[in-house]
Amino acid sequence: MAETMSPTIERTVPRILMCAPTFFEVDYVINPWMDGHVHDTSSERSGRQWDALKDTVSRHADVVVQTPVQGLPDMTFCANAGLVFGNTFVPSRFRHAQRRGEEAPDRAWFAHHGFDIVDLPDGMLFEGAGDALFDRGVARRLWLGHGHRSDVAAGPALARLLDVEVLPLTLVDPRYYHLDTCFCPLPDGYTLYFPDAFDAASLDRIEQHVAPALRIAVDAHDAASFACNAVSTGRVVILNRASGDLRARLEAAGFMVIEVALDEFMKAGGAAKCLTLRLDELTNG
Ligand code: ARG
Repeated sequence: MAETMSPTIERTVPRILMCAPTFFEVDYVINPWMDGHVHDTSSERSGRQWDALKDTVSRHADVVVQTPVQGLPDMTFCANAGLVFGNTFVPSRFRHAQRRGEEAPDRAWFAHHGFDIVDLPDGMLFEGAGDALFDRGVARRLWLGHGHRSDVAAGPALARLLDVEVLPLTLVDPRYYHLDTCFCPLPDGYTLYFPDAFDAASLDRIEQHVAPALRIAVDAHDAASFACNAVSTGRVVILNRASGDLRARLEAAGFMVIEVALDEFMKAGGAAKCLTLRLDELTNG
């Protein structure tokens, strides 16, 4: 199904990549969620939960499926493949050796699907759309999480390579090791986030750039349910779980909240957003 994505074509339906969890399991520990869960996942359950997510996302986006690779149990978290911007793909360079095997098949997939591959300078660590999230209110504004996985130096490098504004955010809680575990830009500039995951300077930065009425701060309980790890397409927000209070606030802001249980993936430290990668970044809201 080779196909070239053009940044100049306005699409009405977002395009989202997913990678089946055929080889998913917790095989090693590279974040606190994985601790205690090595070889504790059920492929039947993860398969069922992933299918439910794919069916739900498919109702609001075109889902494109990437073939998983045996021996790469975290490849199903395709948000970490790299960063898409228009027709450009910036491949990830993983901090942990356990995930580095994903780099070659991801690069090959994006090259095969017509993306221009643009590399960060040698040796720079960057975990793609797990840590780099485009603002949905201001064009060409990229939020970059660092402190656990991606290097802070990826910020100026991405700004130069993609001609975008990069706003770095320092992550301080090891449970919220990727930006997409604790921060989610939504349409019109609404921003879902867990304040305690950031240092004071980063919270200031969020508050400087996101107006009070657009800030949807979540509490520790919603954060731990991966509520910020949400797939956003148009006014739809797909997430593992939201409290009644969070759901009410999102609905008051005009969003429709859809829950898909993803606890099997949370054992590896990921949920809805990590299991997806937006392929038409820049062409849709
Ligand atoms: N076990 C994976 C890791 O620690 C989970 C990745 C989740 N991905 C994400 N975009 N937050 O790398």
